[in-house]
Amino acid sequence: MENKAGSAVKPSEMELVRQLEYIRMIREKNDAFEMANGRKKKFYSLAMGCQMNAHDSEKLEGMLTEMGFESTDVEKEADFIIYNTCCVRENAELKVYGKLGWLKHYKEVKNPDAIIALCGCMMQQETVLQTLRQKYRHVDIVFGTFNLYKLPELVATRMESDRTVYDIWQEHKEVVEDLPIIRHFPYKASVNIMFGCNNFCSYCIVPYVRGRERSRTPEDILAEVRKLAADGVKEVMLLGQNVNSYGKNLDNPISFAELLRMVNEVEGIERIRFMTSHPKDLSDELIKAMAECEHVCKYLHLPVQSGSDEILRRMNRHYTKESYMEIVRKAREAMPDITLSTDIIVGFPGETEEDFQKTLDVIRESRYGSAFTFIYSKRTGTPAAVMEDQVPEDVVSDRFNRMLDVLNPIVHEVHEEQVGKVMTVFAEEVSKQNSSILTGRTDNNMLVHFPGTEDMIGQMVPVKIIDNKTFYLIGERI
Ligand code: 5AD
Ligand code: SF4
Repeated sequence: MENKAGSAVKPSEMELVRQLEYIRMIREKNDAFEMANGRKKKFYSLAMGCQMNAHDSEKLEGMLTEMGFESTDVEKEADFIIYNTCCVRENAELKVYGKLGWLKHYKEVKNPDAIIALCGCMMQQETVLQTLRQKYRHVDIVFGTFNLYKLPELVATRMESDRTVYDIWQEHKEVVEDLPIIRHFPYKASVNIMFGCNNFCSYCIVPYVRGRERSRTPEDILAEVRKLAADGVKEVMLLGQNVNSYGKNLDNPISFAELLRMVNEVEGIERIRFMTSHPKDLSDELIKAMAECEHVCKYLHLPVQSGSDEILRRMNRHYTKESYMEIVRKAREAMPDITLSTDIIVGFPGETEEDFQKTLDVIRESRYGSAFTFIYSKRTGTPAAVMEDQVPEDVVSDRFNRMLDVLNPIVHEVHEEQVGKVMTVFAEEVSKQNSSILTGRTDNNMLVHFPGTEDMIGQMVPVKIIDNKTFYLIGERI
């Protein structure tokens, strides 16, 4: 088979053609439903967890829209319900089971024809599949992280039979490019640059459920970014579990810093963000590229997890507090206005009060503008789950609170430093609480609320910062 340009068609292109055919078939059925009932079928889509999942859900929603469903925010009106699940911490899993209990009732009483689909990280675990098979038989479609693009085929299969469709792959096969997509924001977009993770941090389930690291080629990434720019997108977020190892395994290896420089050249893209950076391989080359590329935001998310070298070793993180602080120092030297954020885990097995104090030291020394803070959650199958000295719950929650007592005043101070400055805010959306207020972000990722009108969304607005609310700033237009 050949494509329009006359070159051989890749298997992934044929797969796309197959899925588009399923989309067409489902659309015919959904159109017939609309003719008969005077309304379209509705879908409710929920993305749990990280930005990667949020972006995957944009693709799922794009496919569902092409199938002739329309989106609803009201779950109890939906004919098709899809949860893109997360399993990084236990809470996320408990939430899914809780919602499935509610959905059983919904299907029995309200809408017996509703289709319930589950996908994403949680579904890659055998224990979860067993639980679903035994206790949650009202689920209709189950698939994982490697075959998201097959949604149309799975929906078509479910429409033809009354049995639950399970399709879980153990590994990645091909990346299907050019899926239909509904972007959550018209002016900013996420772009996957790589999938999976090779790091096996000892607490983390991600490498088991998202597979080994695979980078997309710079050509595919740039083509997507150019297309986004042509659609009016001004800000892109480059996504990967560890962007600093981007490109190392490509046929023509390239570094993340080189990729950043290429994206920086794309006309129309005014802001470039990326996450996540692993401190173990953040290079001087990357800091230099960040400093030199005018469109790359002066903001770095650099998860530290712990400030204790012993805990970091047991976490399999491959850096020390000292080498982490060295990166912070170099980044600040190259970019004095940079804002840092981080991820911190409290209560990793074996964490002593002394280890915890070292985490507080890192917080004080790094002066984060924001931080994602987590209580350690035991994930079956990871090395940390079988480590001795799990820390008692009351000790962990006490440490967690004491950590916030140190962190929040610093976050407040970092925000306070902005008061009085004029900053460019990328207006993203109308505030949910007040329709005369817009919310947006500064280059260094601070959230700003300021008076404005809907037509300003998508614009870079000069704003004077007049007040500080710790986690966000108040501005006025100048
Ligand atoms: N328990 C608590 N936090 C975790 N994270 C990953 N796995 C766990 C776990 N088992 C956190 C890490 C990571 C972020 C995405 O989630 O801080 O950087
Ligand atoms: Fe998990 Fe570590 Fe990979 Fe991040 S780098 S996804 S924390 S294993």
